[in-house]
Amino acid sequence: MGKIKKIYLGADHAGFKLKERIKKYLGLKGIVYEDLGTHSLESVDYPDYAIGVAKKVAKKNNARGILICGTGTGMAIAANKVKGIRAVAAYDRYSAKMSRLHNNANILALRGRFFPFEKIKKIVSVWLATPFSQKARHKRRINKIKQFEENGS
Ligand code: RB5
Repeated sequence: MGKIKKIYLGADHAGFKLKERIKKYLGLKGIVYEDLGTHSLESVDYPDYAIGVAKKVAKKNNARGILICGTGTGMAIAANKVKGIRAVAAYDRYSAKMSRLHNNANILALRGRFFPFEKIKKIVSVWLATPFSQKARHKRRINKIKQFEENGS
């Protein structure tokens, strides 16, 4: 896994404000992103954005996604239906870090409601900075997920 080429961002109405703040944060860090919406507070359906971002991430090498809804839960559930996606809903630095080291997570789902931005910044920053460990046992486990995706067994 090489350097991250691009980060695709998606949010529903409950994640919209946090997405805008994350864009500023990524911009300050010089990280390339593409915002796939939503672009307002008008009520929308999170699967539309989760699946939109997940398809882009699955198609492009070294791409990652950040999805935001009220809890992060719906985004993670929907994104994980797309082949090749390993989405994590992370609420602390440890789970964000381990999702990269052990699971090679390629989408981070965040909680947009009732959650401090200071914590979000720490979660995003460690998730972006942590590489996959490349250890054989973790590759083997991820390959079992891939195999199930391919042939259902
Ligand atoms: C929208 O009210 C809310 O259900 C959604 O943002 C998300 O939290 C779903 O998992």
